Amino acid sequence: MSSAVEAPAAVLIPGKRIAARLSAQVAAEAQAFLHAHGHPPALAVVLAGDDPASGIYVRRKVAECGKAGIRSIGHRLPATVAEADLLALIDDLNRDPAIHGILVQLPLPPHIDASRVLDAIDPRKDVDGFHPVNVGRLSTGTDGLVPCTPLGCMMLLDTVIDDFRGRHAVVIGKSNIVGKPIAMLLLERECTVTVTHIATQGLREIVRGADIVVAAAGAPLLVRGDWIRPGAVVIDVGITRVVDPGSGDRTRIVGDCASAEMAHAAAVTPVPGGVGPMTIACLLANTLRAARAQTRRTAS
Ligand code: GUN
Repeated sequence: MSSAVEAPAAVLIPGKRIAARLSAQVAAEAQAFLHAHGHPPALAVVLAGDDPASGIYVRRKVAECGKAGIRSIGHRLPATVAEADLLALIDDLNRDPAIHGILVQLPLPPHIDASRVLDAIDPRKDVDGFHPVNVGRLSTGTDGLVPCTPLGCMMLLDTVIDDFRGRHAVVIGKSNIVGKPIAMLLLERECTVTVTHIATQGLREIVRGADIVVAAAGAPLLVRGDWIRPGAVVIDVGITRVVDPGSGDRTRIVGDCASAEMAHAAAVTPVPGGVGPMTIACLLANTLRAARAQTRRTAS
C-alpha cells in the first residue's frame, strides 16, 4: 500500500541498548562496592520445579549477574519441595549477612502458597519488590524496592516522554508483577490511569483513548494497529512463543501487540529486545541498591 505522503514510522525504543547501558553502570558500581566492602553484592536465586520458561529466565538472570560482578547463589529445588522447606531456606537467606537480595522465581509449584513464601522474604532483600511492605511503599509513593519489569518500563518511557502529567495511560493486565505496579508508577507521575483486564468491556475503545499503552496481558497479538491512537507510545510487555502460520513447526516470539501494525504510534518497544532485557538490568540495579542499603545499616 502506498500513499502520497509517507507517515513517519514509529520510533523503536532500543530496550536492549538501554538495558546494556544500565547493566554497565551497575557493573562499575558493583566493582566500587567490592573495593569498599571486600565482598560483592550477592543475590540468592531460588528456582523450585522444572518449568522450562522459568529455567531459561533464571539462567539469564544468573548470567547477567556474573557479567555485572554480582555474586549469584542458585538454589534449585525439586517440584515436590515442601512449603516448610522452602520457608526454612528463605529464613536462612534472610539471616545470612552475605546475601543482599533474594529472588524466588514465579510461578511456584501449585501446592505452594506463593504469597506465604513472598511474605517471608525480608523486605530489605526483596529485589523483586513483591513483599507487601514494598507493595505498600509503592502504593503510598514512598521509597522501597520496585518490581523490575515495571521499573524497566518506566525507564523506557522516560526515553521518549518528557512530561507524563495528565496523559492517559491504559494498562492491559492487572497482575501483581506488572499491571498493578506499573499503574502505581504511572499514577505517581500524575498520569490518568485506566487498568483493564480479562473482564473489561470495550477494551479496544478504551485503548484507543490512550496516550500511553502498556500491554501486559500475556495474550499474543491482542492489540491491533487500529486500537492505537496516532502518536501514542506503546510498551509491549508480552512475550509468547507461537507457531509461525504456514511455516510447518517453526516458532517465533511475539508480544501482546501486532508490531507490524504500529507505524502510526510515536514509539513502540520491540519484542524481543524491548522490556525483557530491562527486567534483568533492573534486577541487577535493585540488588546493588539492596546491598548498599544493608551495608549502610550494619556499618552505622
Ligand atoms: N516470573 C515472571 N516474572 C517474574 C519476575 O519478575 N520475578 C520473579 N521472581 N518471577 C517472575
